[in-house]
Amino acid sequence: MKKYILPLISILIASASFVFISWQKSLVINPDTRVNELLASWEGKHKSHIILNVDVNKAKLGKELSTKGWTTVDGKKTKVISKYFVCTDCHNNVIEEEDIANPNPEGRLRKAVKENIPFLQGTTFYGAVNRESWYNQDYVKKYGGLVAPAKDTLENAIQLCAKVCSSGRYLEGWELEAILHYYNTIDYKLKDLNLNASDWEKLESTEINTAEKVAFVKSKYALLSPATFLDPIEKNVRVLGAKGNLQRGKEIYIQSCMACHGLEKEMTSFKLDTTYMSLNFLKNFIPKKHPYSIYEIVRKGTMAEFAIKAYMPHYTAERMSDQQLEDLVAYIMH
Ligand code: HEC
Ligand code: HEC
Repeated sequence: MKKYILPLISILIASASFVFISWQKSLVINPDTRVNELLASWEGKHKSHIILNVDVNKAKLGKELSTKGWTTVDGKKTKVISKYFVCTDCHNNVIEEEDIANPNPEGRLRKAVKENIPFLQGTTFYGAVNRESWYNQDYVKKYGGLVAPAKDTLENAIQLCAKVCSSGRYLEGWELEAILHYYNTIDYKLKDLNLNASDWEKLESTEINTAEKVAFVKSKYALLSPATFLDPIEKNVRVLGAKGNLQRGKEIYIQSCMACHGLEKEMTSFKLDTTYMSLNFLKNFIPKKHPYSIYEIVRKGTMAEFAIKAYMPHYTAERMSDQQLEDLVAYIMH
């Protein structure tokens, strides 16, 4: 990783900034009210990535850029962001947590199975504009100095991912703006926060001051996506699935591995399915100290020459737990 030479990034100059709003629009509070709009009306300001008047046309372009990698402007196809990936290969764009206030991989897997949502390394774009920091904690180990400007500013986080995580290029201004408009359509609404009757009353209460109301609303969803890197479990202490749950392992295999390695996917020529051939191929590597061992690949990904070709991002502890990894091993070893 460290070998990767950091380009001088002139684009990453924006720093977290606030937009002040002079009007105090009295908001009608209902289930569809945008959380960010409510907070902005209370605080009289908002961060620069929050757009109160979303332009639906820009949002549409932003969605296409995120899901297809290109869009059409003046009848012409725009330049693809990455030859290898689209953003939604690694990020969902729907709510992926059972409980958005307490993100955890067990709940996320249950929801993934129930609603057929991929179980991925990147955090969902839904609610990205509600978070307050990005590329948190251990990501500095992977991307070094690139993380500092991306931590506090969503705009920079998007650029970092477009260029580095996607093995692509920096976005042009209009593309970044379009993506921000799109993200502002998939932000939290009050109905996403699982509020009960007394919570709703609190929102309109005149007895609680604004600062308390802001804190109360922000306690209903996670303000950042934590990231803890784990080293692969050493060869001599691997229990090879003995403590794993086969059924859950199969669910992970399908919602995670096959989301990218499925036969119909084009991202990699390394194909996986649920046949004996695929499983047996993986099984042979599991006990070994080998980059193809599930114990290694899940925690380290493939790192070779990253940023210039397709690679596999690793799973942090928060995106796949050690127990889930053991479940996956149990399924493949069975
Ligand atoms: C190959 C996988 C991959 C692709 C493709 C990818 N990302 Fe990411 N992205 C990640 C990972 C891994 C992270 C690490 C942090 C996280 O999301 O938890 C991340 C982080 C982010 C974050 C910060 C999330 C947070 O809350 O910390 C944003 C925003 C983002 N990516 C935007 C994009 C955009 C826009 C694109 C497409 C141009 C894109 N990503 C393509 C893997 C990817
Ligand atoms: C976000 C997409 C994504 C997910 C999810 C994913 N992979 Fe990968 N994986 C890749 C890409 C891309 C490569 C690089 C392939 C290449 O070099 O052509 C790769 C490489 C690998 C390799 C090495 C093969 C090689 O030829 O380099 C193995 C083994 C592997 N993945 C297994 C898994 C398993 C098991 C899972 C489920 C836990 C999984 N992958 C989940 C995208 C993904």
